[in-house]
Parts: sequence; C-alpha cells; structure tokens
Amino acid sequence: MTKGKPFRFTGVECVRFAVEELADACRFASDWGLSYVPCADPEVKLFRAVDGSEVQVVAADPSRIERTPIGGGSGLCEIVWGVEDQASLAALAQDLGRDRRAEFDSDGTLHSVDDLGINLAFRVAQRKPMHFEATRYNAPGQPQRINRRAPAYKVAMPREISHIAIGVDDAAEAARFYIERLGFLVSDRYANRGVFMRCSPSGNHHHVFFMNARVPGTRFNHLAFKVRDIHEVIGGGQHLDSLGWRTFAGPGRHTISSACFWYFQTPFGGSWEYAADEDIVTDEWEAQDFAAIAHIFSEWTFGLEKSDGTLKGPISASKEQKR
Ligand SMILES: [Fe+2]
Repeated sequence: MTKGKPFRFTGVECVRFAVEELADACRFASDWGLSYVPCADPEVKLFRAVDGSEVQVVAADPSRIERTPIGGGSGLCEIVWGVEDQASLAALAQDLGRDRRAEFDSDGTLHSVDDLGINLAFRVAQRKPMHFEATRYNAPGQPQRINRRAPAYKVAMPREISHIAIGVDDAAEAARFYIERLGFLVSDRYANRGVFMRCSPSGNHHHVFFMNARVPGTRFNHLAFKVRDIHEVIGGGQHLDSLGWRTFAGPGRHTISSACFWYFQTPFGGSWEYAADEDIVTDEWEAQDFAAIAHIFSEWTFGLEKSDGTLKGPISASKEQKR
C-alpha cells in the first residue's frame, strides 16, 4: 500500500493523446513495435505493449475539449493510472471528490484532474507482465551464457510503459499533488527543477517525472517504454532510424535511474523513449538531490542535445548527410 494512503497504484495503464497528424502518429506507434488493436470507436486508435499497457490516439480538435491536449497542438489528453483493486478506486473517488471532478464512466474508470489541469484517470490494472527469459551476460570469470549466442533484435517489442515525463513551470509545485494527495514517493530530484516520482514503494525508479521546461506552460515531454535489454534499445532504435524517424537523444545511459535509452521525435507532441535496465527500488531506496548541471540528463550519450534543440554527434551528423 502507498504509505499513509488507502490507494494501491500499479503504474501507468494508458496514455491518451490527441494529435494533429493522426496517420503519422499511427505509423510511428506501429513502427515503434506496439500492436494495433481495433477499437469499438473507429475514431480512437489503440496500440498496446506486450503487457497490455496502452496508447490511445485521436485526431486533435480544438473545438472539443476532450480532444484538445494540454499545451495545445499535439500532446497529452489524459494519463490513466492503474490501481490494484476496487477499494483503491472507491477511496480515490471519495478523496478526490472533496475538491475536484471525480466521475466514473460506464467502464468503471474514474476520471479526475490534478492541480495543473492534467486529466487523470484511474482503473483497476489490466496490465499483465509476460514472462520471458532474461538476457544473460558473460562477466569475466562469471559467465552466465555458455554455448549460446547473445540475442539480437531487428525491431523492438516494448514490454510495458515505464514512465511519463511532463514539462511544467515549477516541478516542485507540480509534484505536490502527487505526493500529498496520491501518496507518490520522490525517488530523486534535480534540485526542485526535476522531480522523479514512483507511484508505489517498490518497483520502477519512477513512473512520472516533472521537469521545469524551457517554454512556459504544461506540456507532454516524453513517454518511456521498457524493452528487454540494451540490445533491444539499439535494435529498435536502428529500425526507427532506418525508417526515417529522427533521434531526439541517444543512444545513451541516464545518470539517474541507470537506464540505457534512445529517444525519438514523434508526432505525439514530444518524444518516446526505449529504455532498458532501469533501477528497481524498494522503500529502502534513498532519494538524492542531484545538482541540476547541464549534462545530468545522461552519464553518456551519442548525439548530445545542444541548447538550440538540435543534436550533434555521430548519429545526427550521419542523418543530416542522408537528408
Ligand atoms: Fe525518461
């Protein structure tokens, strides 16, 4: 149970987007390795990772509030959080209903909103982790993979949504609702300019990351998907690159959370991230406050981001020559 709260969260179940270029967004989601699932509503395009975590996307329509992303343009409409049981949903409805919208829809999903106006929903978790044989590594003197070749991946098959990152004006302020009302825990901080939070004491290092953005306002920044290992990060990234999708940053490795990553620019109003080997924590994890230095983003990376938002390094250089 989340400390001091009667809510038991499991992670991000679904992220709903509205986009200006729906066909491009659908092509990107398929190329990313998600499975397309036909929906009862033909205007809603649904894509699933292996464990059932979902991305839903519709065409943005500024005349319809439910199809207008926060920050405008293409972006985030709603984050659906998983809870362990009906008791958690009922407790959330009662607590959130004290001072904000808390309405169940016909599917039993509870819809509400945070203090910044980000639409949130809650449903009993439908995600089901699918077992696979984890990659083995041969450390010197401690071989774990004998007489077997290492795995290689032509395309990625994301296992699950890992976390969502949102750009805001004041990350510490944005985090307050999640800490005080939902009982999320802070896993690490960049001073108060970036706050990494997890929704339950044990599991992912973070499920949501608020960061002070370069541009004012609240806006989707990126969505991360876990893949099996670093080889799948690279295999999936090379596949995306071969199809003409542009790298945002990577491949590289995060200083905070230890994950190996590759980010791509997307038609969803932010980037998507392949991630592998993220830290897994328990309630014994000790949060740190990291200095917000320029390169805190990664321990190492190819194609370091420059302040003007373009990239430098071997990947972007080769891409620029191609185009
Ligand atoms: Fe991330």
